[in-house]
Amino acid sequence: MTHLPPILDACCGARMMHADKDNPDVLFADIRRESHTLCDGRTLTIDPDVQMDFRAMPFADESFYLVLFDPPHLVKAGPRSWLALKYGRQDKNLWQDDLRRGFAECFRVLKIHGVLVFKWSEKDIPLRKILPLAPQKPIIGHMGRIKYPFHWLLFMKGGRNGAAL
Ligand SMILES: C[S@@+](CC[C@H](N)C(=O)[O-])C[C@H]1O[C@@H](n2cnc3c(N)ncnc32)[C@H](O)[C@@H]1O
Repeated sequence: MTHLPPILDACCGARMMHADKDNPDVLFADIRRESHTLCDGRTLTIDPDVQMDFRAMPFADESFYLVLFDPPHLVKAGPRSWLALKYGRQDKNLWQDDLRRGFAECFRVLKIHGVLVFKWSEKDIPLRKILPLAPQKPIIGHMGRIKYPFHWLLFMKGGRNGAAL
């Protein structure tokens, strides 16, 4: 790809979290390209700009200023459940390795001092088991003792809280 936009969404799904689902500053990527009718009759369409695997991204090192990483957080959902269709699911034996590889790729394709925004729901796996899979510590997020079901964490590549990769 010759010209890359500044932002990569590494697993965009149906782009639900985007204010502008056709934002030209974002390269929308996902491993799936498919469409489903959900139980309430609505259509769910996963139609990325690039079909790719976040564990092995087809981009050069230091390509993006901002990477968005909202990987599947479900392990227990049935493979054909609407939750799995909407959010994808993790393999119960491989999720640690898959997420570790995903984090490593997100950091690799970020420019130095670029920002990674990571989203996680603790429905099946607590955040404390996810954080050690990232190569650096986050800069901000819900760090207190209060338990939140959803987390937004922000990382910056390099800097003093983590080795430059
Ligand atoms: C939680 S959903 C993302 C939801 C999205 N942020 C939104 O706003 O709609 C996770 C997505 O990760 C995708 N995914 C799962 N494994 C992947 C992989 N190895 N590489 C790229 N995408 C993957 C799934 O297909 C699913 O669409």
